[in-house]
Amino acid sequence: MVNALPPGGARAVARCDELGVAPYSDMSGGLYRGYLSPAYAATLDRLGEWMAQAGMTVRRDAAANLIGRFEGAKPDAPALMIGSHIDSVRDGGRYDGPLGIMLGIECVDALRREGKTLPFAIEVYGFGDEEGSRFPAAMLTSRAVAGLLEPEALDIADSADTALADAGVDVARYLEAGRGKAEMLAYLEAHIEQGPVLEDEGLAVGTVTGIAAQLRYAVTVKGTAGHAGTTAMRLRSDALAGAAAMILAVEQEAREDKSDVVATVGSIEARPGAANVIPGDVRFTIDVRSGDAARRDRVAEQILQRIAEIAKARDVECAVDRIHDLPPSPCDPKLMELMDAATEDAGHPPFRLVSGAGHDAMNMAALGPTAMLFIRCKGGVSHNPAEHVEPADADAALRVMLAFIDRLAKDWKSSNAC
Ligand code: GLV
Ligand code: MN
Ligand code: MN
Repeated sequence: MVNALPPGGARAVARCDELGVAPYSDMSGGLYRGYLSPAYAATLDRLGEWMAQAGMTVRRDAAANLIGRFEGAKPDAPALMIGSHIDSVRDGGRYDGPLGIMLGIECVDALRREGKTLPFAIEVYGFGDEEGSRFPAAMLTSRAVAGLLEPEALDIADSADTALADAGVDVARYLEAGRGKAEMLAYLEAHIEQGPVLEDEGLAVGTVTGIAAQLRYAVTVKGTAGHAGTTAMRLRSDALAGAAAMILAVEQEAREDKSDVVATVGSIEARPGAANVIPGDVRFTIDVRSGDAARRDRVAEQILQRIAEIAKARDVECAVDRIHDLPPSPCDPKLMELMDAATEDAGHPPFRLVSGAGHDAMNMAALGPTAMLFIRCKGGVSHNPAEHVEPADADAALRVMLAFIDRLAKDWKSSNAC
């Protein structure tokens, strides 16, 4: 049914909708697509079909990213890479990630239908792990492509104790997914805004100026599991009560900073997890972000200090692992100008905004200049099944992306004319 739709932004949205349910989701009644899960494998197959229909040659790399290549006039010229991510958060929305891939495919489909050959190739990347929703790491796959991943980072397991090495990738070859700087002309990512600014401004799209710095920790608190009925309150070492105090300290430190720093405990697991057992082992995550890395680090230090004090006062053991650390990532100034001009070409007023959410573009910046285009989403809601994007806004984004590609090709020709 989706294939019967005419090409364009509406088809890109409909394709995301198709991927929002089984077999492309690992949960019933909502969307969860974990990296390397059965739903992930089914999604790679479907995406591969759409890439091939658009005229691309399709391959899967050593990190299980899916890549479609649309050849240019000069096959050895660095390629324009367009990408976003395939994975989702648990019970997430349908457009965070996949829409950027679908719009990349629509760009190629439009160029093929118009019989256009660009001087450079376009490669559409579907990145596997951006959210970090399955393994205790995030953006593994774009870090691998950008050459930013240490082999030790692959020694991880999901909450069911399935190691990455047993999940369907060969970790010894994982870093072969890496690309060289000479292979990338620029990276372009279109993404829903995940915030309310564009809606408030009455705009369909906006040029992203940069992405906030991120830091993520995995915290383990160990107390003593015991009988909930027989252990007197004064004799307990309750890991969950200790973690609760720590979580409130995380919130308090970020609030009291009164800056753009945000800190979130988004995942917690208490073991053994029974109503009549005092929890002996608790794991939770902390995510800290800011537009400024020094501000982020200062608040993170205060948080870690408070956690250590609480552990001591409550007589629980506590270990903290830094699992993710990304500096702020400014978008390329020249590409921002190109995006503004492309926005006008497509009949929309240019507008600039910053991204508090992380994106694969943060890593791809290590290979070359990056550009991002945000698309209005309803109420700014994201990481939520209520996430919604209007097909007309996706179509506006597609027009801007095509104008951006056109301008990039003209620039390329004028700077490579001999
Ligand atoms: C990705 O969605 C992130 O910002 O965590
Ligand atoms: Mn997300
Ligand atoms: Mn995303």
